[in-house]
Amino acid sequence: MSFFVFGSLNIDKVYKLRHLPEKGETVTCSDYRVNVGGKGLNQAIALHRAGADVKIAGCVGKDGEMLTDYLESSGVDASPVKVADCHSGHCVIEVDENGQNQMILFPGANRKIDVAYCDAFASQLHEGDIVLMQYETSCVEYLAGICHDKGVKVAFNPSPFVPELLSFPYHYIDCLILNDYEAQMITGEKDAEKASGKLLEKMAGGRVVITLGGDGAVYGDSSGYFTVPAVKVDAVDTTGAGDTFTGYFLYVLSKSNDPALAMKTAAKAAAIAVTKVGAAETIPEMKDVESYAI
Ligand code: RIB
Repeated sequence: MSFFVFGSLNIDKVYKLRHLPEKGETVTCSDYRVNVGGKGLNQAIALHRAGADVKIAGCVGKDGEMLTDYLESSGVDASPVKVADCHSGHCVIEVDENGQNQMILFPGANRKIDVAYCDAFASQLHEGDIVLMQYETSCVEYLAGICHDKGVKVAFNPSPFVPELLSFPYHYIDCLILNDYEAQMITGEKDAEKASGKLLEKMAGGRVVITLGGDGAVYGDSSGYFTVPAVKVDAVDTTGAGDTFTGYFLYVLSKSNDPALAMKTAAKAAAIAVTKVGAAETIPEMKDVESYAI
């Protein structure tokens, strides 16, 4: 079994602010950084730091060398990533004093993925492999369908929420990992356990994880639901917390087949990640997660 990520790679432009601007307001920032990011890149790094060998497929622009260099130097195989003649995806991220953020996403090269690229990528997938996807790239439905037909397991983080996700073919998905806002938008259900039930129906089985920020995360499958609490820390920047959770959850679950262990480990990893500014750079190694005392 091999792990693959099919996903976005973004240049994150991070602005640290006292508070997030109101409509019409200008706020002067106290810090500005350019980081590597993108849900695909972050989740590939999280899987790798948890312990997995990972290959990532996606698309960057001519300015995307920093993204592929970061992946390769971190130990993720980025050889399937193609380079398009356009700008890479980028994300403007504003982070306030409490670590809360708001983002503007420019998809750029992430939307240059086409059917031919998916077919070539899928030719290297085998039954039992796991492909993790998000919703920042083009052709997600198409690749999920191919994976489903080949017996490749699909883990899906339907993020960021857009109305197209209401008609997504969820029956292709084996494991769905999303936050409470996304779950509510997709199901119309505020209660996380009820939303899990509705999502499991759409998927015709499988596993669902709904992250609830400071309130922890809910796990659901055909045998029932349980909640793990969040690990309490002073958050500096929550960017990438969900990506960290996703990578750790999937890896630990694949190794242990123990959802409770996977949820607890993922919650710890995400808590460590939010204590620093950034996304991929803040994702901890498994040894640091294991030695982290709650
Ligand atoms: O999940 C965090 C990520 O979302 C950021 O790194 C940003 O690039 C956006 O894709």
